[in-house]
Amino acid sequence: MSDAQRLFRDVLGHFPTSVVAITTTDADGRPRGLVVGTFTSVSLDPPLVSFLVDRSSVTLRGIRDAGRFCANALAGNQERLSRKMAAAGNRFEGVGWTPSPLGNPVLDGIVAWVDCTVETVVEIGDHLLVVGRVADLRIESMRTPLLFFRGGYGDYLSSSLLVLDRLTGG
Ligand SMILES: Cc1cc2nc3c(=O)[nH]c(=O)nc-3n(C[C@H](O)[C@H](O)[C@H](O)COP(=O)(O)O)c2cc1C
Repeated sequence: MSDAQRLFRDVLGHFPTSVVAITTTDADGRPRGLVVGTFTSVSLDPPLVSFLVDRSSVTLRGIRDAGRFCANALAGNQERLSRKMAAAGNRFEGVGWTPSPLGNPVLDGIVAWVDCTVETVVEIGDHLLVVGRVADLRIESMRTPLLFFRGGYGDYLSSSLLVLDRLTGG
C-alpha cells in the first residue's frame, strides 16, 4: 500500500459509519452475508438504498444471483456478530434469524431492516455500488446502534441521554 493509500484509509477511518449486515440466501436456501459500513439511503421516490462492496466479495455473487438482499442495522451490543459476519468460516453458525418478506435473513437482536430487490449494480473504482429497491422495511427495536470509528467499534449515546446521565450523577 502506498503512503497516499495509507493516508486515504486513515483519514476516511475518522468518518464514523454504521455497521450493517447485508444478507441473502443461496440457491439451496442457505443464509449468506457480509458486514458493510457503506449502507446509505439514496432516494425516497422511488425508495432506493445502496451499499458499496469490494469487487472480490464472494457474497456479492450470491446477492446478484438471488437478486435481493436485506440490510440489517446491528445493535450496539452486536460487535461479536459483526466480527463474525466479516470473518472467514460459517458466518451464520449459532446466529438466530427469520426470513424477511423477500426471504432474506433478518438477524435476531438488530435495530432495523430494509428488504430490497437489486435495482442496479454500478462499477466504481475497485468497488461496486449495489442499489436496492425497497420492498419492505421495519424498526425491530429501540436498541442503540453499533458504530465503527478509527478502526474500532463503539455504541451510540444520544446527547440527551448524556445530559440525563450527568444530571442524575450516573
Ligand atoms: C465495520 C466494517 C465495515 C466494512 N465495510 C465494508 C464495505 O462497506 N464494503 C465491503 O466490501 N467490505 C466491507 N467490510 C469488509 C467485509 O465485511 C469483509 O471483507 C468480508 O469478508 C467480505 O465478505 P465476502 O468476501 O464473503 O463477501 C467491512 C468490515 C467491517 C468490520
